[in-house]
Amino acid sequence: MTRIGIILGSTRPGRNGEAVARWVHQIATQRTDAEFELVDLLDYKLPHLDETLPPSLGQYAQPHTRAWADKIASFDGFVMVTPEYNHSTSGALKNAIDFLYGEWNNKAVGFVSYGSVGGTRAVEHLRLIAGELQMADVRAQVALSLLTDFKDYSVFTPNEGHVGPLTTMLDQVVAWSVALAPLRAR
Ligand SMILES: Cc1cc2nc3c(=O)[nH]c(=O)nc-3n(C[C@H](O)[C@H](O)[C@H](O)COP(=O)(O)O)c2cc1C
Repeated sequence: MTRIGIILGSTRPGRNGEAVARWVHQIATQRTDAEFELVDLLDYKLPHLDETLPPSLGQYAQPHTRAWADKIASFDGFVMVTPEYNHSTSGALKNAIDFLYGEWNNKAVGFVSYGSVGGTRAVEHLRLIAGELQMADVRAQVALSLLTDFKDYSVFTPNEGHVGPLTTMLDQVVAWSVALAPLRAR
């Protein structure tokens, strides 16, 4: 079965990201074409990158890196749920991405973002990063507004209209995850 990791990209106390990632997970798990697992960065307790060798060598010295690498290696594709901090993604998500290399290669990725203009600037940065990691970033994305999809900027009340784009994005992530399987098998 194709496995898709839904990465919760914010670690801040009181984060909005948790409700967003749970909403994505709840809709995704109604599908039968893949397995979906919520991956909370908080569970991996990654410090700022503390490996001596470049991640592209795949020789990880730290137990926290190995645990993170094992989890990411277990997936065929990803949905990254990202906040927008200063017109980019969160430092926590960027750091978690930077820890690894081969575990991301030849896998699909789709994005769900949130912010005052839907977090779209964070996703544009993540698409550049995906290119360097040899990830296939799908076109469809979900952009949630802090103004209209959250009550008082903090209680997640998603507009029903986001379910369609989320479904299309998941369709694309699953399709490309399957299509890239021969490359991952090499
Ligand atoms: C350090 C920081 C920088 C932010 N910068 C932006 C920004 O550039 N654009 C934006 O739309 N929202 C920005 N925000 C608002 C966040 O999008 C909003 O607080 C969101 O809920 C953060 O995600 P989180 O609650 O999951 O941490 C910023 C928030 C923080 C904490």
